[in-house]
Amino acid sequence: MGRLRNKHIILAISGGIAAYKSAELVRLLVKTGAQVQVVMTSGATEFITPLTLQALSGNPVHQHLLNPQAEAGMGHIQLARWADLLVIAPASANVISRLAQGQANDLLTTLCLATHAPVLLAPAMNQAMWHDQATQANVQILIDRGLQMHGPAQGEQACGDVGAGRMLEPNEILTALETQFDQGLLVDKTLVITAGPTREAIDPVRYVSNHSSGKMGYAIAQAARDQGAKVILISGPTQLPIPDGVTFVAVQSAQNMLDASIKAVAAADFFIATAAVADYRPAKVSEQKLKKQNSDHGLTLEMVQNPDILASMVQRFPKAVHIGFAAETEDIIAHAQDKLVRKGVSMIIANDVSKPGIGFNSDNNQVSLVTADDVQKLPLLSKPQLARQLVEAISHISHKA
Ligand code: PMT
Repeated sequence: MGRLRNKHIILAISGGIAAYKSAELVRLLVKTGAQVQVVMTSGATEFITPLTLQALSGNPVHQHLLNPQAEAGMGHIQLARWADLLVIAPASANVISRLAQGQANDLLTTLCLATHAPVLLAPAMNQAMWHDQATQANVQILIDRGLQMHGPAQGEQACGDVGAGRMLEPNEILTALETQFDQGLLVDKTLVITAGPTREAIDPVRYVSNHSSGKMGYAIAQAARDQGAKVILISGPTQLPIPDGVTFVAVQSAQNMLDASIKAVAAADFFIATAAVADYRPAKVSEQKLKKQNSDHGLTLEMVQNPDILASMVQRFPKAVHIGFAAETEDIIAHAQDKLVRKGVSMIIANDVSKPGIGFNSDNNQVSLVTADDVQKLPLLSKPQLARQLVEAISHISHKA
């Protein structure tokens, strides 16, 4: 389960009566969380309408090799690069023959030449056509080139013949596709990640905040998603696009972030607190914009402490694994070790936010992983690279009983 979540799958459909089963395959793929682009040969459109497949996949169907509109959007080379896997179902005798010859005379065959993704075929044709020497020779050529054949199955055929030539059932093809991908490290796990800054209102137009861009937290959300996790990203205001395939909760203040975390962490396996939460907020939010005073005195704001979201999650949901970050400017490891104990978390990821080029609002970061019995310093990495390493490290911390 979950191996196809967020995987990019091209389903290419060639002409044959089995094309009607491809609609069910699209439905199953979408249900597993895969992103599906459908390609149809002109023959396929005689058997099933592009509209059906567009509705099921949620994406426009690709039919033509040179389509000015498509080339401006997702052209054939982009589509070939986008794919994690290309499956041809049904694969007709004609398509198998054209692929064996290395032809590139339509979108489907061109994609097969242009993609680096694995190509799987689910052949479907009359049993005599399947057994024909020419088809068998073509199939062998494709197998020798590393393309995979799944099926055909034996049985009764639409033409009345009985024998090998039926396309595998959609659920059998789905299983074949799932086995192409490693089981993700976090399959069946739910991760709640806080990211970005919080904004603590002073009045309707002013707030107290910090320089967190959200880059670190969003990168962790994406890396966890890619390992098969269900991800809930609770984010303060940032300029970043919402990552695909995660549940996104937008918040403003620390109190909002706390409320959203309480809802989400109740059913979570991991809570990762990347957000730079404001420790204090103005004691009173003025309903009207504060006016500049006609005096030499400055403005004094009374601040009160915000709730500690991370510590609160540890207390409320002790069964989850809790990971905190520590933004420090001195005695990094000692402060991180202190936070580890004080907040009762399994790991603190400590970063030195006084160093230029890492920490707040930079593309890179350099951290140490601090646990009760270990300190591991990681090299300087881009935030997406670091996120992948962090997710791997986090996945080894077992879920508390
Ligand atoms: O967003 P970027 O620009 O990519 O920057 C990333 C980052 C520097 C913000 C990130 O790497 C980081 O260090 N995040 C934690 C920042 C922070 O607030 O550290 P802290 O030492 O003040 O807090 C310790 C931990 O308690 C953190 O996990 C924090 O999320 C959590 N906390 C803090 C205060 C509070 N009221 N509630 C909390 O949950």
